[in-house]
Order: sequence, then C-alpha cells, then structure tokens
Amino acid sequence: MEIRLSAESVAEYGGDAVVVAVVEKAAPSGAAAAADERLGGLIGRLVAAGEIKGKQSEVTILHTQGKLPAARVAVVGLGRAEDADLLALRGAMGAAARALRDRGCRRVGVTCHQALPGTARAEHCMRAALEGAYVGLYRGGERKSGQELPEELEELWLLGMAEGPQEAAAAVVRTARVVGEATNYARRLVNLPANQVTPRSLAEEAVEVAKRTGLEVEVLEPPQLRELGLGALLAVGEGSEQPPRLIVLRHHRKRTGPRVAFVGKGLTFDSGGISIKPTDGMHLMKSDMAGAAAVLAAMGAAGELKLEVDLLGVIPAAENLPSGRAYRPGDVLTALGGKTIEVISTDAEGRLVLADALGYARQLGASHLVDVATLTGACVVALGHVAAGVMGNDNEFVEAVLDAGERAGERMWRLPLFPEYRRQLDSKIADLKNVGGRPAGTITGGWFLREFAGDTAWVHIDIAGTAWSEQDEPHQVEGATGAGTRTLIALAERMAGGTG
Ligand code: BES
Ligand code: ZN
Ligand code: ZN
Repeated sequence: MEIRLSAESVAEYGGDAVVVAVVEKAAPSGAAAAADERLGGLIGRLVAAGEIKGKQSEVTILHTQGKLPAARVAVVGLGRAEDADLLALRGAMGAAARALRDRGCRRVGVTCHQALPGTARAEHCMRAALEGAYVGLYRGGERKSGQELPEELEELWLLGMAEGPQEAAAAVVRTARVVGEATNYARRLVNLPANQVTPRSLAEEAVEVAKRTGLEVEVLEPPQLRELGLGALLAVGEGSEQPPRLIVLRHHRKRTGPRVAFVGKGLTFDSGGISIKPTDGMHLMKSDMAGAAAVLAAMGAAGELKLEVDLLGVIPAAENLPSGRAYRPGDVLTALGGKTIEVISTDAEGRLVLADALGYARQLGASHLVDVATLTGACVVALGHVAAGVMGNDNEFVEAVLDAGERAGERMWRLPLFPEYRRQLDSKIADLKNVGGRPAGTITGGWFLREFAGDTAWVHIDIAGTAWSEQDEPHQVEGATGAGTRTLIALAERMAGGTG
C-alpha cells in the first residue's frame, strides 16, 4: 500500500471510497458532515434511524451514486464520544481499510488528521490511523494452495493536506509505514509454524533483518553458550534436535546516554517438555516466540528509522520438547552469573532462557532492560486478551514503558512486585525455583526475572494474552497480533528524545 497526500477534500476526491468517522449518539460532524451534505442527508437519516450506531469499528458502506466523486463512503464508528481516542481511531481505520479492501476498493481517501474531535494532535491522529490501516490490511497466515492472489488496497490518500502541512506529514507517513510494516513482519513470523521457524531459522532471519536495516548481528551457538555459561538456555534446548541460539542485534547510533536492551522470549515451540502440556491448544505454542518477533521487528524498525539511541536486541531461541536428552523437573541449573535454579516444571522455560539473556544483556553493558515474553497462562487469566502485564524494578522506567504502550496503542497494566511474592520462589537446594505455585503466577514469573536483572533498570512485559487473537476482529485478522513491537519502537523513540 502506498500513502499519498492530497489537498483535495472529501467532497472532491474521486477514488473508490472515502472514509469518514462518526461517534455514537451524535449527528455527523467534520468530514462526515461534508459527505452527508453531498449525499442529501443520507448519513444523518441512517444515524437517526439507528442503522448507523457509531459503535467502535462498525463500518457502513454507502454508494454515492454520483453525488460525490468517490464511488463509496465508508462511515466508521469511533464508539462513545468519551471513548473516541487514538486507540479507537486505530481500530476504526483498520476496520474501514479491511472492509473496503475486501469489497475490491483499491484507492481510498481519508482525512485522518482531523478524525478526532478535541485535543488530539493532527500528527498523532495521522500516525495512529495509518498504523491502524497497516494492521487492518494484513491478511495473516500462509496462503492456501490453489488460491488466486487477492487484490490489495493500493493507494491510501490523506485528504485535506495543503502544501505546507504535506511536508510535515511526510515524516509521519514514513514512520507509520515502518512501524506498521514492522508490526506485520512480527505477525508473519509468529504465524509461521514451528517446522518453519526454528532457533536456526530465526537466527538466519535476524541476519537478514540486520543486513536490510543496518544493524550488527551475532549468533551464539551451543559451544559458545557453554563457554560463556548460559546453562539455563542450554538446558531448555536440550530436548530438541534443533540446538538453541542466542541472537544479539546492535543498533549503535549514539555512544553516550542509555543503552537499552530489548530481550525477547524466543521459544519456537513450547510443548512443555517433560512437564508436557495438554493437547488442547498446544498447536498455538508455535507463538511462544512472539516476544522474539517483537524484538526483531522493533530493532529492524529502529535501524530503518535511524533512531538516535543505543539499542541491543537479545533473543534466546530454543525449542522445548521432551526426549531422552531433555532436562527434567528436579534438575538444578546454573544460569549466567552463577545463580542456581531448581527446575520444578520444565514448562516454566521462558523465564529460564530469559534469565540467561538478561544476564548477557547486562554483560554487554545495558543500562536498561525490557523483556517481552509470552510468559504465563496466569496473565491471560488476570488480564485476558486485552492488556499485557507490566512489572519492573524502577518506577520511572516502568512509567516510560507504560507511556510508550499508550502511544503505541497497546493496552498495558502494571502488576506489583511486592517482596512477599518473592518467598514463593524460595528453594531448599538452590537460589530459587522456577515455579512459585498457582497464586499470582504472573507476578512470581516477574519476580524470577527480576532476580536476573540485578540492579539494572528493568521492565517485563507479559504478552501471553495479547500476542494471539483467537478470532477475526473488525480491525485485525485472527492469529498473531505483533504485540510488543510498537511499544518497543515507541520506547526507542522516546529514549531517542523524539516525539513518539
Ligand atoms: N508459553 C507458556 C505461557 C503461555 C500460556 C503463553 C498460554 C501463551 C498462552 C509458558 O512457557 C508456560 O507454559 N508457563 C507456565 C508456567 C507455570 C508452569 C509456572 C504456565 O503459565 O502454565
Ligand atoms: Zn512453557
Ligand atoms: Zn513458553
């Protein structure tokens, strides 16, 4: 999809469709009012009759029959006026773009910089709407055999952009494209099955991304991992024929200031290992590398955008399978840095690989650590598929990550790491055990990681509930969501001193 800028108004643009937004229980205003006037009040009558409700992401496609130069008007809902924020705009734009694309529209116009009433800044609106369009237009999965190539939405026109504002908008458009495409790149990786994404192929993928976006990359294989002492990552990978890898990406733009490490859980498949999972839903554990995909995509985007910040991407990649060589419950592992871990469940493997990866990022001089991981089923119980769980050891940095999440349109909610929870990880034979029992499972997972962050500022984002959508939504197809990608990019922008 190409994004173009035009000074034309909704009443002048002659493509396949124009998109206008409405809120619940209100007469059309702004671009919707302009379209309504040309249509002889049709939109207003449909609103009055309750056929257009303005609910979040509801899309109504009207044919203009020559009353407007565009062939169709798509009226999209932003929900209740008090909920009509940038997140609502993202979803609405995704839903409209998807619905129009599926009806064969190739050229679509929108005045997204004016879509929200009130205080939202034009460039924030534009960025949210454009990113929403990219997310909406992603089709998901591999194509089935024998299917014809479906038609794509080719041109998205930002209308009502006079020459001066066009220049300022060009930078926003470019950033939105990089961020939108990074999100969809992460989704593609996560949707791929585990026979196509292995620790080795993930490393090859990282090398490709690095080449394309100007990052440095290094891939550590078992002999080096052994030499360095990454005993936890090695143990998790032992049951698989596919040996583990530690993938390290570097984006060096600034040699002073913070060095932020993005650490992503890269379990290309999580069967649970010897503590094997039940059959139901096990196939979805191909998505247990969603954190790694987010880190890889965000690092690539930071490279492409040449963000002025020093970044590290660290991805521990492994496959968790049961076999005669697999690690066992009861085993005691020594992680990088020397802490010992009693394995209670081989299914709590994410925290083990992350322990080593966090330790390695610290050895590389990270001043800030953010890990992104499909870490706990308990997080799905606590926050559902709506919000990611956030924990950390540094209030200021936690706030920075929450703020980045908000800007990125990813819902996040902080959970407490009260000291009382730490006791659940006490072990009689090692420094800590890898499971803290059923209560507060997401928090004890967070506490485990905290032990390996030491005194480095660290934030943990548990995306177990948000990385995968079990059904089609108006604004996105079912499957991988790219969770974490946009938050990491927004954080990098923030650390670079940009507007994000
Ligand atoms: N990858 C899973 C967590 C998960 C569950 C992600 C559901 C997405 C959806 C993780 O490795 C795991 O199995 N965690 C265990 C931890 C427990 C043994 C302490 C869990 O959540 O049950
Ligand atoms: Zn597991
Ligand atoms: Zn897992």
